[in-house]
Amino acid sequence: MEGRSSRLFVTVALFHLLLLAPRLAVAFNYADALAKSIIFFEGQRSGKLPPGNRMPWRADSGLTDGAQHNVDLVGGYYDAGDNVKFGLPMAFSTTMLAWSVTDFGKFMGAQLPHARDAVRWGADYLLKAATATPGALYVQVGDPGRDHACWERPEDMDTPRGVYRVDASKPGSDVAGETAAALAASSVVFRRSDPAYSARLLHAAMAVFEFADRHRGSYSDSLSADVCPYYCSYSGYHDELLWAASWLHRASNNATYMTYVQAYGMQLGAGDDDYSFSWDDKRVATKVLLSRGFLRRKLQGLELYKSHSDSYICSLVPGTSSFQAGQYTPGGLIYKEGESNMQYVTTATFLVLAYAKYLKSGRATVSCGGRDVAPADLVALAKRQVDYILGKNPAGRSYMVGFGARYPERAHHRGASMPSVRAHPGRIGCDAGFQYLHAAGANPNVLTGAVLGGPDAHDSFDDDRGNYAQSEPATYINAPLVGPLAFFAGTIKKYN
Ligand SMILES: *[C@@H]1O[C@H](CO)[C@@H](O)[C@H](O)[C@H]1NC(C)=O
Repeated sequence: MEGRSSRLFVTVALFHLLLLAPRLAVAFNYADALAKSIIFFEGQRSGKLPPGNRMPWRADSGLTDGAQHNVDLVGGYYDAGDNVKFGLPMAFSTTMLAWSVTDFGKFMGAQLPHARDAVRWGADYLLKAATATPGALYVQVGDPGRDHACWERPEDMDTPRGVYRVDASKPGSDVAGETAAALAASSVVFRRSDPAYSARLLHAAMAVFEFADRHRGSYSDSLSADVCPYYCSYSGYHDELLWAASWLHRASNNATYMTYVQAYGMQLGAGDDDYSFSWDDKRVATKVLLSRGFLRRKLQGLELYKSHSDSYICSLVPGTSSFQAGQYTPGGLIYKEGESNMQYVTTATFLVLAYAKYLKSGRATVSCGGRDVAPADLVALAKRQVDYILGKNPAGRSYMVGFGARYPERAHHRGASMPSVRAHPGRIGCDAGFQYLHAAGANPNVLTGAVLGGPDAHDSFDDDRGNYAQSEPATYINAPLVGPLAFFAGTIKKYN
């Protein structure tokens, strides 16, 4: 009797579980997360804000950036919780926003115009930076040491707004390569919706790439004291040259760039196995992007990139012999390192999902140590990462500010942590601001949509403003997440 009833119970429970499973799987409102992930960029805007800016506590800032040097460098994005405009991560974030739109824009629905605006805000600035002075590319505004020595709202900023550039005598193929990639990827975004703008972006991308390739060198050598250690190019510039050529090929379909990839790929790192994709290192992403050409368009000479992409993807797939378990926390989050780990989660999630898409369109699978991994398996893998970020994790919390019932309240972010200029119009000086960094309470302004650095290797997280490794947001954490959020917002019913 007991046996039978418990068996019945198990059967009934299983039945309920099966019934409930799809509903559990849609517990997250991906469309809301997508909308918020884009609003975050409106909070990071520098320059003159348009009337519809949706981060209500922000106001204009940096309105004279570049003026002392007779260039207009107003606009662009602050990278993270400070007020410097760093060119390398800004260009990278723009590239990833653009890739999100080119590959997942069709799932964005009402968010598509907002996503395009986010791309344009970055691209407009990069266009200025690339074309203001012939033969030079402006790569940074703001003295990072002086900026970091203050805790100030961007609207109050009074630290030196030094302007930094690369040119033929002080090259920077890394930052120039990324800028070319960002302009080229953005030109794809606007190909149909604004062809004239798209053509301008592509034209500028070609010129910046030419400059990057002709005057080879790393901006970490040319400008080391000003860009390091913040955004030092640790991986060098080879990866950006190949990445830029690959994006230029996708944007222009001009055979010159494919010839470049085929001629110089090996010299520029095509044979390396490297598994972490970030604002610094684009090797694996270039392979995935070139695999698209191989899988979707049957372009010749790109088999190598498909096989390297396979190795990368297999390293992330549990249960296969190539799986590298060390890449995950016990709770299932991709884990690379303690500082701002979430950036690696969102970039890997993007690549896994993009690869699933390219495989599907090429009717291909990946063989991981003899086991076939299908696009649907990769979609499920990507979804677990997105769900972890949104709240399905051991701590039971969301890592996106303003999303879910329990989210971080103390983002390491100057503007969000201080009373807004609307609430407190008087200036708050450099030193006076530090009381807000050290305050115990929640940030007065909600940094809607910001995904923070995230938990440690054991899935634990301190909601502590002082712990910047865990609590700082960044444009390059959010930008690669926009595409996956769009995908799940648009397709979740199909994938349950
Ligand atoms: C292709 O790119 C090369 C290198 O930038 C350029 O010289 C050439 O004019 C381009 N071809 C076309 C058809 O746009």
